[in-house]
Order: sequence, then C-alpha cells, then structure tokens
Amino acid sequence: MAEFEGKEVNIAGNMIYEPILEEGVFRFDCSGSDRSAAFPSLSFTDTKLRDTPVMIHKVPVYLPTFKCVNEQQIVSIKLPIGTSFYGTGEVSGQLERTGKRIFTWNTDAWGYGSGTTSLYQSHPWVLAVLPSGEALGVLADTTHRCEIDLRKESTIQILAPASYPVITFGPFASPTAALISLSHAIGTVLMPPKWSLGYHQCRWSYDSAVRVLQVAKTFRKKGIPCDVVWMDIDYMDGFRCFTFDKERFSNPQVLVNDLHLNGFKAIWMLDPGIKQEEGYFVYDSGSKNDVWVLKEDGKPYVGEVWPGACVFPDFTQRKTRSWWAELVKEFMSNGVDGIWNDMNEPAVFKTVTKTMPSSNIHRGDAELGGCQNHLHYHNVYGMLMARSTYEGMRLGKENKRPFVLTRAGFIGSQRYAATWTGDNLSNWEHLHMSLSMVLQLGLSGQALSGPDIGGFAGNATPKLFGRWMGMGAMFPFCRGHSEAGTVDHEPWSFGEECEEVCRLALLRRYRLIPHIYTLFYMAHTKGTPVAAPTFFTDPKDPRLRKVENSFLLGPVLIHASTVPVGGSDQLQQVFPRGIWLRFDFDDAHPDLPTLYLQGGSMIPVGPPIQHVGEANPTDDLSLIMALNEEGNSCSQELCNILSLIVQLFYHLLVVGTVHQL
Ligand code: NOJ
Repeated sequence: MAEFEGKEVNIAGNMIYEPILEEGVFRFDCSGSDRSAAFPSLSFTDTKLRDTPVMIHKVPVYLPTFKCVNEQQIVSIKLPIGTSFYGTGEVSGQLERTGKRIFTWNTDAWGYGSGTTSLYQSHPWVLAVLPSGEALGVLADTTHRCEIDLRKESTIQILAPASYPVITFGPFASPTAALISLSHAIGTVLMPPKWSLGYHQCRWSYDSAVRVLQVAKTFRKKGIPCDVVWMDIDYMDGFRCFTFDKERFSNPQVLVNDLHLNGFKAIWMLDPGIKQEEGYFVYDSGSKNDVWVLKEDGKPYVGEVWPGACVFPDFTQRKTRSWWAELVKEFMSNGVDGIWNDMNEPAVFKTVTKTMPSSNIHRGDAELGGCQNHLHYHNVYGMLMARSTYEGMRLGKENKRPFVLTRAGFIGSQRYAATWTGDNLSNWEHLHMSLSMVLQLGLSGQALSGPDIGGFAGNATPKLFGRWMGMGAMFPFCRGHSEAGTVDHEPWSFGEECEEVCRLALLRRYRLIPHIYTLFYMAHTKGTPVAAPTFFTDPKDPRLRKVENSFLLGPVLIHASTVPVGGSDQLQQVFPRGIWLRFDFDDAHPDLPTLYLQGGSMIPVGPPIQHVGEANPTDDLSLIMALNEEGNSCSQELCNILSLIVQLFYHLLVVGTVHQL
C-alpha cells in the first residue's frame, strides 16, 4: 500500500494493453477485470471497435501508468521534453494547453473567461505534438467528469472515477495523421449542406415574422451575402417547443416560403426543457410514452427553464429518441431547414449546479450503459439530443442533409451536429480566444464550429464588429448572434465603414466556398481538419507551436489582427518556412485578415454571390495557384489534369505571377 497526496493508493502500476482499430492504436486498462467491466463507449461510432482486439504485433511506444485512489483512477503519461499539448475540446484560453487544467463537465457557462475550466462540451482528449513533429492522441473513454491536468511539463495526467479505458493513437508522423486515426474511432464530421457554409444571421430574438423578413430583405438590398436567418426562443408560444407564437409567428409556412423566395433558409430553436402543462401536446404525449428523466423516487424530474416548470426527455432511451424524432419530423413540415438545440447540458435555472441533480435516473439502452444516474450521462445528454434531432430531420427529409447546431456536446457529436462556442462576450479578448477555440474543437474531432460573431453579451464597437466579421468569415461555421437587450448587431448596425468591411468579409467567404466545401468533403470522407493551427504546416518548427493569430484552411494561411490597435497590415507575422504568396480579391483592408497560399498548391474559388443557391453548376470557377520553387503548383499528374480542365472552362490564376482576378 502506497500513498498519493496523503491518500491511500489501493493499486498502481503499468496499464495492460491490447491493439485495437488499426496499427498504432492501443487500448489500456488497469486490469483484465477492469477491461471486461468497462462501460460501452459513447465516443466511438461502434463500441465493438474499442472492445475488439486486432492482430497487430506492435507494442506501444508510450505506456501510461495508473493509480487508484479513493475510487478515482489517475492515469499518467510522460512524454519527451518539448512536447506541446492541444485538444481538450471546447476550451477557452491559450492555444497551447501546457500549464492548463480542465474538467469535462458540460456547463451553461454564460460570459466565460480565459480561465474557465468547464464549458458546454466535453472532449476528454489530448493531442500531444512531440518535439520530432510526430503526434500522439490520448482519449480517456469516460462520460464521467474527468480532470485533464496538463500543468506539469510534458506530462498528461487524467483523473476520473474508476475504471475507464485510455486509448492512445500513435505516435503518428504528423498531427493530421493522429486526427485521421481518431476519426476512425469517433467518426468524421457530418457533411454539411452547402448553404450552411454561407453566412448565418441570428439574434435573440427576431421576435416576429415581419422583423425576420425585414432583416432578410435588408441583406439583399445592401448586397451583403447571407444564407440563413435564425429563430431564437421567442418564436415559440410561451417557450413551448414545437409551437409557434399565435400572433407574431402566426403562419410559419408563409414566412419560410417568403424566406425561400429571397434565397434564405430558416433555422429554429428546440430546447430540451418541456413545459410541464397538461393539455400541451408534447407534454401529454411524452408523459403517455413515459419518456422523462426520473428522480431517485421514480417520478419525473421537474426543473425550471424558460417556460417555467419543465420535464426533460431522457434521450438515453431509444423510445425517447424515436418519440422526439417523430416530433421533429412533424415540425419539419412547417418548412424548417435546420434545428438549433440549445440549453442541452442540460441547463436548469435556480440550482447551484446549473443542471439536474446527480441522483436523477436515466433508463439508458443497454448498449449505451443501461440504467444509470445523471453523473454517468450528464456529458452525453446534449449529444444524444442532437442525435435524435438529426435522426428526426432525416425522417422528415430523407434526401436532404440535416443541419443541427448543438450547444452541449461530447467527443463524437460532430457526427450529428455543428456547434458554436456559446455565450461569449463582446470584447477583444473574446475575439482573440474565438480563434483558438475553433481550432481546439477542430483538433478534437469537431470541424464545424464558430463563435457568435461580434460577441453575444454586451455591445460591440464598429471596429470590434468589423474585425470579428473579417476573421469569422474565414471560420468553418459563420454566424452573427447577440443577446437580448444589446444594441442591434447586424452588419449594417455600426455605420457605413463597418458595413463595408462586413460586405467585403462575406463576399470573400462566398468566393472561398468552393474551397471550404472541398475541405469539408475531405474532412467528412477522410477525417482531415478544416481549420487547423499554423503549426500543422511544419509540426517540427517550435516557432509555430504557440502562434495564435493565424490559421490554415487547407493550403490557405490566414493572418488576422485581434487587437484594437493595428489591423492586419501592422501584424507581427510568423510565417512557416517555404513559399507563401499573398493574394486577395481586390478587397485588401486592414480590418480583414491577410491571405496567403502555400507554394505548390491551388484552390478553387467561385463568383461573389449573395447566397449559395445563386450558384449554378455552369458558373465559371477560378483556380488560384501558387508555384513552388520548381514552378509547379501540384504534381505532374495533377498538372496534366488541371491544364485539361483549364482549357475546358476554368480561369487560371497564378498567384505571384498574375495578380488580377
Ligand atoms: C442561450 C444560448 O447560448 C443563446 O445563444 C440563446 O440566444 C439564448 N439561450 C436564448 O435562447
């Protein structure tokens, strides 16, 4: 018997391992009996992938050790000095995670700061980039609250209730290779509908159909591209999900038709808190089908959210997910194009913990872990709600790709939904952090994310708003949103100069949509990242590991200024080695990021359209190419195909030699 921090250590030692999934991936457990007793995996697409050994005769390079102290399993992995840590999912603060400690516990974190240790999502995952540039991924496969401690240089320490498996991926030759391997376990990001890669305009709330149309038409009148308008909670009748306010949204189908005619899609919010009210069809049918989360005493748990007293669907049960999916399917018949799942940590008002009691009971399916208390399912509640919403959208429109946005999530929820970085603040620190947050989500499997552009809480200034739009227009998911009670935050709300910056920013995004869409296709089919940190170009180069004001969209390097003094023209830039050629669309502006294309690569760009539906298969596309030292932009084989395509119908742009578009 030993001691650890003054407490008794019951067992300790090296973990036992077996190869799973593919070469370089190992599952570690404290013992054979822990291995057999492990809960099913909710992060893996299929728990069998985690639980079935494969015949590969390799041994792991890094062996985790463990201690069990007071029923907590503490796992340590020591890596070479000079290792940099990333990942850990949706986290605020610096990009490079050494020195940080986080706790996976989905939390309604309004107004979080750089030091907040639990946000809305849980990703018990660390991506370690070794001094050699190789990368090792570490997944603690537990749904429980999990501490990830990176405060000690080059050491990962994980602490969660015993017992849980730890999966290591690699070391592989590059961080991209480690992410691809992770995607073989947890799946890739859903393939987003193309329109969802356009700009989204949101507000809590555009509170009448008249106002919604007015906002939509102003985009067209002002020539500012936009694809989607969002309906926050006030469209509902008294915050009852699946209903519409009888006066302000009396005919949603007519509204949606008008929006569609103007080239807009409509996304509507659905929260998990269902008003406890007899006569309300959702409450009545849920009660009849016995779908609610229960208290310890077996009665439905009631907690307060927007509508007052609410019950909560128990999404851990198949019957509840099917019940919800049917409601979603019906809801789609109003012309719903996408669904926004909010407050699904789940958030509960007037409680100290901001959520439901740990003692609540979820009657989960056996393959998800069976009947368990809330501690077991808290972190996956949001993911299972998003899954059920996604399945309902599929039922509603089989031949359409669903678009779901979820606030709460778990590692693996990118299979069902996009996400955003929650209730941020309208200030420069949050503008800066939004880049690292989007990148960290991408390094944790979720490629489709973005912040509330302009900041959710508080009022933006024209300068801040323009800069945020400039950078946000380059993020995978691009949506402006603001809190009730703040000043208007549409692109034209901050004067003409800011409006012009927003117009340029969004026109630029729309020109890049063919490239962004291609990156999503690659992410969806291969597991490669969409937005990646600059160091991905050269993971061996220590200069790049902490770079926080630039990032990559494939071979495009984007430098953005996130400080009030000095725009992108005055940025201290750190460039990766090699050729990086600056390009623009005759739209250079100090409030917009600067763009560079890596020598030896090319990207497709489209015309500056107002919404994705305006594009035609017969439109001219342009290819922007940057030559490498040998004067090539791609391999000989690709060049041959390319010149054929160019002769047929593309424009050819060679950055550095031909400047105009
Ligand atoms: C909280 C969400 O984070 C925010 O985006 C939304 O506007 C409000 N709930 C109201 O629905």
